[in-house]
Amino acid sequence: MTQDIKWRRTHQNDQLRPANTCEQVTLVGWVQSIRDHGGVIFVDLRDRWGHTQVVFHPENEALINRAKRLNMETVIGIQGVVVKRPDEMVNSNLDTGGIEVDAEILEVFNKAKPTPFVIKDPPDANDETRFKYRYLDLRRPSIQNNMLLRHKTAQTVRRYFDAKDFVEIETPVLMKSTPEGARDYLVPSRINKGKFYALPQSPQTYKQLLMISGFDRYFQIVKCFRDEDLRADRQPEFTQIDVEMSFVDEEAIFEVMEGLMQQIFKDVLGQELSVPFQRMPFDDVLLKYGVDRPDLRFSLEIQDISDLAPGCGFQVFENAVQSGGVIRGFKLPQVGPLSRKQTDQLMEFVKPFGARGLVFVQYLEGEIKSPIAKFVGDPFLQKLGSRFDVQTGDVLFIVAAEQKVVCDALGNLRNKLAADFNLIPEDKMSILWVTDFPLLEWDAEAKRYVAMHHPFTSPRPEDVSLMDSDPGKVRAREYDLVLNGSEIAGGSIRIHQSAMQSRMFDLLGIDKVTAKQKFGHLIEALDYGAPPHGGIAFGFDRLVAMLAGEASIREVIAFPKTTSALSLMDGCPSEVDNAQLKELGIKLI
Ligand code: AMO
Repeated sequence: MTQDIKWRRTHQNDQLRPANTCEQVTLVGWVQSIRDHGGVIFVDLRDRWGHTQVVFHPENEALINRAKRLNMETVIGIQGVVVKRPDEMVNSNLDTGGIEVDAEILEVFNKAKPTPFVIKDPPDANDETRFKYRYLDLRRPSIQNNMLLRHKTAQTVRRYFDAKDFVEIETPVLMKSTPEGARDYLVPSRINKGKFYALPQSPQTYKQLLMISGFDRYFQIVKCFRDEDLRADRQPEFTQIDVEMSFVDEEAIFEVMEGLMQQIFKDVLGQELSVPFQRMPFDDVLLKYGVDRPDLRFSLEIQDISDLAPGCGFQVFENAVQSGGVIRGFKLPQVGPLSRKQTDQLMEFVKPFGARGLVFVQYLEGEIKSPIAKFVGDPFLQKLGSRFDVQTGDVLFIVAAEQKVVCDALGNLRNKLAADFNLIPEDKMSILWVTDFPLLEWDAEAKRYVAMHHPFTSPRPEDVSLMDSDPGKVRAREYDLVLNGSEIAGGSIRIHQSAMQSRMFDLLGIDKVTAKQKFGHLIEALDYGAPPHGGIAFGFDRLVAMLAGEASIREVIAFPKTTSALSLMDGCPSEVDNAQLKELGIKLI
């Protein structure tokens, strides 16, 4: 039915108070619950804003008979009179708990079938059901709050950048395929058969071109698409707060972004963040925390003990160092003795990171327990203990292997143990800039260097001379922002001269023809007056998930995909008609 004017609501379901007593009101919403108390029917009416208790009395027989037939999630309107509840009936958990509305007229706008799960927090449905019926899941107050928090964050971002004279400019969603990093999502062109657009992995090249166009300060809240392996913090389509600025250095970018974070934390959580944020160079981060996005809410700092290996008597340690590897470990205080089952599980945990073993040293009352004790003897274990300043009850975890394996294994183990032993303080916040990343990373499979960030990142001027002699040593003008162990933003100062950009493509093993074909427009544009520029992009979903205290970004995205990149609700991706394929000139194999 069309909604006639009679059913315009007078109040939202969070608004009525004892001061409204005796007022005639019109309310609309969903039936959250129905209770029959000795012939009196109580309906809890819900909308986005809250709940109001509506009462149907037995005196009005026709009305109460209709009320009795209501079921949950049916959409209704009621007209009636506000009644103050007696003191003993006041519900102090509810904004409207001081009143109820005596219903006089009931309109059923749409009767609901029994829903696959009850709309409540926490949900009584598994993830599959929740995402199949996401439009119902989105009715839950916690998910509604997440969406409101996302909206609020986005509004703060827009206000903040507008006040600082940034321009919001939309960039194309159909662009040229230039895979460098993740795989592209491709879109076939009907008009230009055999040719494809790609969905942007990020607007990186466009925002650089906008700097060349002279906009100076750009931002955009923008969808990005990457065909990569998915995890709790990765979706095939996700949102960035994308930023680029001209005539800036790292300091200027840090200042603007720290200000943004302060404003968001203030507006959304009512929390003050102190600036400047802590900074740490990449090499230090890897050494101390193993991963490049360390969670500093707990310590468990890693130390290098490679110098203790020569002549220690344990072959694995000695060989590791001789073959150019490292030995590192960290101390978990006051947890020993660990059971055999616990240590076995931890051994299994480090294997996927390439570690062939994990050495434990348990400093117990009157005894040092370790599987390597028989090789190295007690004096060595004591020396090791004093290096880590151990107390009785402490346990050391040590890995010996090539540096990358040691970092991965210990960094991930550090996070796991902190979680397992409840060492992460809930109310603490850790935020830091990781700086001085290497420009390049060796890809053993492809047997070439790949850009650690992306190919447009500028090398540090003092390292440019190493680009030919020792490319792996060149540091980049790159920075990541890490919040509680999650990489929430990454950016860099860019290359703004075509000769340097071409040199970078050379280093990446991208030949001149391919570079011209893929990035020719950018290289050419750099020759028409490109200002020095740099920028950053925030993972907006990750940021909102952190603000909402959610472990997965799916909980802050209205219609997310599963870890197999499926939408369970509408069943995409799906097959298409042969006619559609024919039109596009595509044959499936
Ligand atoms: P980068 O690739 O580091 O940089 O991406 C920026 C931020 O986006 C988030 N992010 C993701 N979030 C959810 N799902 C994903 N699949 C996903 N991938 C990345 C992360 C990350 O820190 N153009 C550059 C930025 C720049 O240099 O200015 C870029 O895209 O939080």
